[in-house]
Amino acid sequence: SEDEVVNITYILKDGKRVPVKGKVGDNLMYLAHRYEIPMEGACEASLACTTCHVYIQSNHLDKLPTPTEAEDDLLDMAPFLKENSRLGCQVVLKKEYNGLEVQLPQATRNFYVDGHTPKPH
Ligand code: FES
Repeated sequence: SEDEVVNITYILKDGKRVPVKGKVGDNLMYLAHRYEIPMEGACEASLACTTCHVYIQSNHLDKLPTPTEAEDDLLDMAPFLKENSRLGCQVVLKKEYNGLEVQLPQATRNFYVDGHTPKPH
């Protein structure tokens, strides 16, 4: 229903802004895929990669729960890590996230495939 709509804006590597309509319960990785936004998700949301790395713009950062230890440990391996880095597949939409802006990093790395060599995609 309409009450469940959560408006999210993705900001692509080139700065292009893409507004989409998510729903409560969607995660930011699968939502991006539904709209053909170039976010990866090599491990299919099983917390075994860092390819769904995103930055949560500060407009809503304080509304998100703090990352789990497992998410934090993985994020430590992500290139271009920032204070507001999260794994997109671990951010599950709530109504209060309406208006959230999510920026894609310059590059991601799939350490299982690439070893420890950063590889831009
Ligand atoms: Fe692998 Fe999110 S898709 S941790």
